[in-house]
Amino acid sequence: MEIRKLLRPHLQHLTPYSSARDEFKGAAEVYLDANENSFGSTSVDKYRRYPDPYQTELKEKIGAVKNVRLENIFLGNGSDEPIDLLIRAFCNPGKDSIIITPPTYGMYEVSANINDVIIKKVPLKKDFSLDIEGIFEAIEPGVKIIFLCSPNNPTGNSIDREDILEILSKFQGLVVLDEAYIDFSSKPSLIGELKNHQNLIILQTFSKAWGLASLRLGMMFADVEIIDILNMIKPPYNINGASQDLAIKALSNLAHMKEMVKDILRQKRQLETSLSGIPSVQKIYPSDANFVLVKINTAHDTYLKLIDAKVIVRDRSKVELCEDCLRITVGTEKEIKKLIAQLKQISR
Ligand SMILES: Cc1ncc(COP(=O)(O)O)c(C=O)c1O
Repeated sequence: MEIRKLLRPHLQHLTPYSSARDEFKGAAEVYLDANENSFGSTSVDKYRRYPDPYQTELKEKIGAVKNVRLENIFLGNGSDEPIDLLIRAFCNPGKDSIIITPPTYGMYEVSANINDVIIKKVPLKKDFSLDIEGIFEAIEPGVKIIFLCSPNNPTGNSIDREDILEILSKFQGLVVLDEAYIDFSSKPSLIGELKNHQNLIILQTFSKAWGLASLRLGMMFADVEIIDILNMIKPPYNINGASQDLAIKALSNLAHMKEMVKDILRQKRQLETSLSGIPSVQKIYPSDANFVLVKINTAHDTYLKLIDAKVIVRDRSKVELCEDCLRITVGTEKEIKKLIAQLKQISR
């Protein structure tokens, strides 16, 4: 597969910006190359310097945890940055298209719209599995990227691995598999399939299991050619120094992350049990993530009443296939108790 052929023609010969930190690597005594403040910092002294544009130390640590080589890793300002960069790199505005499988994470559609890229929607089936035939029918030469999300937001289910592998082997474009919630899943990541499929792009994030949503740090794993293309078009210092430092620290706390995941999964079972005892709850969808999708009588009204009680959940009741549904993040025992007490009161 020739990834370069998929790239938008005007990017084939782009001269990327070359930052001061690109041009001189290594240790020196005097740095007068980047117009930084040589006199100090109003906050933490080390942050007066620009950060490593390619986040080498952080990528080495991520690579060790994920068993992926450094050159197969791209880091973004949240996963939302690589979603946007991929569309910008490969889809010609007004001409090319992406396929999405709603209901799913909203940013694929928003990023495509921002970039004036056509969106082909192949809704999930009623059981939230992929409509494989529909996807293959929707594929035509203008389709550059298929976005899949597993476990899927907002439905919570994982996509059948065989379905993903079939798309990867038959589709001549790129397949983005968003694994933002993979750490909560009983199913394994497809990261090991990167070596078998040059068109596979996997997204993961520090925002969920790692508990670092505020750092805005998304991971992308892909073929080196795709990584090189994104490095060419990304803003020079897209990951700030504080985020790099804090993520490096987090990676030495893998055991803590796994402990929290265990606690969240235990609490999820508790949440499901409590929800099943509420008369207005019609259905609790099986979840491989850190949230549950719940079908409930008068969902929108319930959502508003919960807000009055200062409990915020996500109203998905107007989303196709999620009619009458609320999406509830697994909170702490105390948070869930408050939610359940309010739901009981509302359903009376
Ligand atoms: C499926 C999915 N992908 C990506 C993201 C965003 O991740 P990040 O915080 O890394 O931008 C979310 C956030 O809710 C999500 O649900």
